[in-house]
Amino acid sequence: MRINRYLSACGVASRRGAETLIEDGRVKVNGSLLKDLATFVEPGRDRVELDGKVLNLPQEFTYLLLNKPLGVVTTASDPEGRSTVLGFVPPKPRVFPVGRLDFETSGALLMINDGGMAHRLLHPQFKVDKQYEVTVQGTLPDDLVATLANGVDLEGRKTAPAQVSIRERDGRRTKLSISIREGRNRQVRRMLESVGHEVIDLRRVRFGPIELGNLKEGTYRSLTEEEVKALHDATTFKRQQAHDRPKGTKRSSRPFHRKRKP
Ligand code: URA
Repeated sequence: MRINRYLSACGVASRRGAETLIEDGRVKVNGSLLKDLATFVEPGRDRVELDGKVLNLPQEFTYLLLNKPLGVVTTASDPEGRSTVLGFVPPKPRVFPVGRLDFETSGALLMINDGGMAHRLLHPQFKVDKQYEVTVQGTLPDDLVATLANGVDLEGRKTAPAQVSIRERDGRRTKLSISIREGRNRQVRRMLESVGHEVIDLRRVRFGPIELGNLKEGTYRSLTEEEVKALHDATTFKRQQAHDRPKGTKRSSRPFHRKRKP
């Protein structure tokens, strides 16, 4: 890429203005003062400096949705040598899972390299909801559905209100759908255990506005532009949310720091 294009893509000047910066002796490439306006640089390999400050091209983010299979860990590496979610997506550009799904949970896992977005998606302030399809042992009665929806006590702290509905009861098992806005460790399993029902299958079918749909287990796809926009919308603080808080309550005590764009 020609140096003036590189400098303008970094947002420091127009292409014409970039030539002036070079003529003024303010640009170095790989440690040497640049004199030739027609120099070509290779992004990621050549080191370009303006007034001694390294300039990098703004990163284009990658947003993938993986249908995580069972028996896979949601970490970059596993000391026990088990297969990890990174093995199911291309190695480059490098992406990271947004939050975690248990080893024995399948379904929608966002894999992205937009750190700011990942931080916001997991931050309690934005209350991004996650929907799970759950199968439990036994018949879950309606009164326990209401108990789960209102919140149950997990280690001395009540879970936030959830949306819970029965999909099927066959006398031996119950299939239900549950949407939660928190992300406590093994939360769905522990909520069901707390009302006396063991989870035998757990699948996440939606993360905020992103639906798993019919994506095959073990495969991934890129999010569409509309889906990325929907993620931004879901993680933008809206004035209305302040009105939604009960009177006399404060915003989340955990601070949210908006990060500067790269
Ligand atoms: N709740 C759980 O119990 N496990 C998961 O993997 C996700 C939510």
